[in-house]
Amino acid sequence: MPLTVKGLEGIVAAETNMSYINGEKGILEYVGISIDDLARNSTFEETTYLLWNRKLPTKAELQAFTTEFRANYDLPAGMVERIQSLPKTAQPMHVLRTMVSALAMHDVDPNANDPVSARKKALSVLATTPAIIACFDRYRRGLPFVAPRKDLTFAQNFLYMLNGQVPTEAVARAFDICMILHADHGLNNSTFTSRVIISTLSDVYSALTGAIGSLRGPLHGGANEEVMEMLGEIEALAKSQGKNAMDVVEPYIMGRLAKKERIMGFGHRVYKTIDPRATFLKTFAKQIAADTGNLPLYEISSKIEQIMAREVGAKGIYPNVDFYSATTYHSIGLKLDLFTPMFAMSRNAGWSGHIIEQLSDNRLFRPAAEYVGPHNSPYMAMDSR
Ligand SMILES: CC(C)(COP(=O)(O)OP(=O)(O)OC[C@H]1O[C@@H](n2cnc3c(N)ncnc32)[C@H](O)[C@@H]1OP(=O)(O)O)[C@@H](O)C(=O)NCCC(=O)NCCS
Repeated sequence: MPLTVKGLEGIVAAETNMSYINGEKGILEYVGISIDDLARNSTFEETTYLLWNRKLPTKAELQAFTTEFRANYDLPAGMVERIQSLPKTAQPMHVLRTMVSALAMHDVDPNANDPVSARKKALSVLATTPAIIACFDRYRRGLPFVAPRKDLTFAQNFLYMLNGQVPTEAVARAFDICMILHADHGLNNSTFTSRVIISTLSDVYSALTGAIGSLRGPLHGGANEEVMEMLGEIEALAKSQGKNAMDVVEPYIMGRLAKKERIMGFGHRVYKTIDPRATFLKTFAKQIAADTGNLPLYEISSKIEQIMAREVGAKGIYPNVDFYSATTYHSIGLKLDLFTPMFAMSRNAGWSGHIIEQLSDNRLFRPAAEYVGPHNSPYMAMDSR
């Protein structure tokens, strides 16, 4: 029996031609193009096309894809009412997971897994998740649903449906970049989950629903919310002590490290240097924070990064994508519990690409567990236990 590999670290369980990661050198590429290049020059729509077709689109191809994408912005009939019947206290990730699952019930042929059907379903889920999130958030704030606008990009349309007004170009671009950076990332936990589910020849909706469940964990996509909570705790601590936030960062972080607590937004299973998405986001977060009056938050983050480099840098623990995306989302004006749904909205593109990739050359995932319990145990009668 081979040794158990806890957490499957280093195990290669699938082939992909979507994203390449080199954790030692801090490289992330989508179909060979560096993430930095894409964040600077691409859009979320074009990046999705790239991931799903393994090539950049021509002008005509992008136009056709965008038109088809926007034609899918609307929620199925009855969905708005269903969302508006949920408890207002529900957490958006639970709402998103439940409603993506519910989308299957509006599909006349939900289990079709041929390439054309799977792609159609993937596009429809990708295009409607912004409406699910925006609809729920407005409902819990006592505001009416804002229908999507097909003349707007994915990023603009989401922020429009959330806030009832078209965002500025700078805010829409900031958000679009976050979407590009989070779109795919090798065989991460939620992507693996989606491939495991589809490998049973289940259906696209089930695979995406499972992936959303995986993503919300604090060790995965939920970390961006925890980063923001930590920044809030630092500010509250400073206030309670009548100090400047910058003066309490060091004791706060050192105190947590002394208690062997994890600092959210740091560390990565694959990257042993700074996450290349974090490198880009760091500069970007500073700019958007400065533009929106949130520079103090960026400065606290930067100080945490310095302390962590000094204390645990030698262990290969550096900021990951969640660390500076927290400041960016906050600066854009997004509420804390929408951070992880934003991650899901973007990663949907990667999950779907992987689901289709898995279906194209499927073999059921079925690893083994090493049994470490007793053998030959007698069945004790109830009275003798
Ligand atoms: C992402 C993560 C789960 C990867 O974990 P992993 O590959 O299983 O790494 P391990 O849990 O084995 O940690 C290895 C060592 O680094 C330490 N470490 C890892 N992440 C740390 C963090 N965020 N803060 C402090 N120490 C950390 C561990 O305590 C451990 O130290 P030890 O060897 O002295 O016991 C982990 O780094 C983490 O929990 N990070 C915080 C959550 C987060 O930001 N997640 C988003 C990922 S994109």
